[in-house]
Amino acid sequence: MFKVDTKKAIMVFGKTGALGREICAQANKIGLPLIKVGRADLDLGLNAKSIEEYINDHSPGLLINCACLIGLDKCNLQRKEAIEVNGHFPHKLFLGSQKNRIPLVHFSTDGVFSCDEDGPLNTETSTPQPTTWYGVTKYLGESFLGGSDNCLTIRMPMLYGPTNQHQIIGKLLQKIKSGENIQVSNDVFNTLTYTPDIVGWVLDFILGKQTFSNNLVHLTSDKRLSIYEFMAYIARFFGLENKVLSTSSDRFKSAEQKPRFGGLKSDYVKEFSFQNAIDEYINWLLEQDKENKVCL
Ligand SMILES: NC(=O)c1ccc[n+]([C@@H]2O[C@H](COP(=O)([O-])OP(=O)(O)OC[C@H]3O[C@@H](n4cnc5c(N)ncnc54)[C@H](OP(=O)(O)O)[C@@H]3O)[C@@H](O)[C@H]2O)c1
Repeated sequence: MFKVDTKKAIMVFGKTGALGREICAQANKIGLPLIKVGRADLDLGLNAKSIEEYINDHSPGLLINCACLIGLDKCNLQRKEAIEVNGHFPHKLFLGSQKNRIPLVHFSTDGVFSCDEDGPLNTETSTPQPTTWYGVTKYLGESFLGGSDNCLTIRMPMLYGPTNQHQIIGKLLQKIKSGENIQVSNDVFNTLTYTPDIVGWVLDFILGKQTFSNNLVHLTSDKRLSIYEFMAYIARFFGLENKVLSTSSDRFKSAEQKPRFGGLKSDYVKEFSFQNAIDEYINWLLEQDKENKVCL
C-alpha cells in the first residue's frame, strides 16, 4: 500500500534537473519538507548498502527519483553511465527503501516502447520494446520496481515547461527568439506534456488526493502532434512563425533511429488538457518576455 508520512521529508534525487526542480518548487510552495539530493551529495554509483545507509541517515518519508541520463545521443555515447544511472540506481534505491518500507516514486519514459509505427498510443498494458539505448536503460530501471505495492513508476512523454528550458523545446524557442531559423521535424509525433501538470498530479497523489492503486501509470496530455506543429503554434504568439521551418527527421543525423511515433495514453488516469497547458505555458513565456528575462 502506497502511504506517505508527509510529516517526514521527501527525498528528491536529481534536484538540479528539469523535473526535480519543478517538484521541489511546487512541494516547497505547499510546505512539504524536502531533502534535495544532487551530484555533490551522493555518488549514484555507490553500492546498494551505501545508498541504503544514506537514505536511513536522513529518515525520509518518501523517495522521488528524478536522477537520469537523458537524451538519445547522450545515452548512446555514454552507455556505461546510462546503465548505471537509469538502470542500476533505481534498483539500488528500491533495495534501500524496502527494509523500512519507504515509498518510492520513479519516473520513466515513452522511450521504453518502440514507437516506430503510426499505431494506437501505448497504455500501461502495452508491451515495452525499447529500440534505443536510452529506452533500454530506462526499461531496465523500471523493471526492478514492478512488483512492489509501495513503488510507483510514472511514464511520461516529451515534456516542456518553465524548468525544461535547457531541453529540446526550450532550446528551439531560444533560437527563434535570437533571430535564427529553426528546422523542425514534421514526422516526429508526441503527446507533449507540461511538466507542472505532471508534478501537480504527483503531489496530489502523495497527499492522498488521487486514488490510484496500480504500480505503473502513464501521465500525458490528450493531444498527439508533431514537434513542428507544436513549435509553430507557440512561435505564432510571438510573431515568429516564419522562423519555424518544417522538415523531415531524416535531415538530422543520429546514431540510432529516433522513435517517430512517441506519446502515451493511460487506461487509468484522465489525460491533461493540452490546450490548457499550452495556454499556461505561453502566458508564462509572455510574462518572462515582459520582465525581460533571458529564457525566451
Ligand atoms: N524531459 C523529458 O522530456 C522527459 C520525458 C519523459 C521522461 N522523462 C523522465 O523524467 C525524469 C527526469 O528527467 P529530467 O527531464 O528532469 O532530466 P534532466 O533535466 O536531465 O535531469 C536529470 C537529473 O539527473 C542528474 N544526474 C544525471 N546523471 C547523474 C549522475 N551520474 N550522478 C548524479 N546525478 C546525475 C542530473 O544532475 P546534473 O544536473 O548534476 O547533471 C539532473 O539533476 C527521468 O527519469 C526521465 O527519463 C523526462
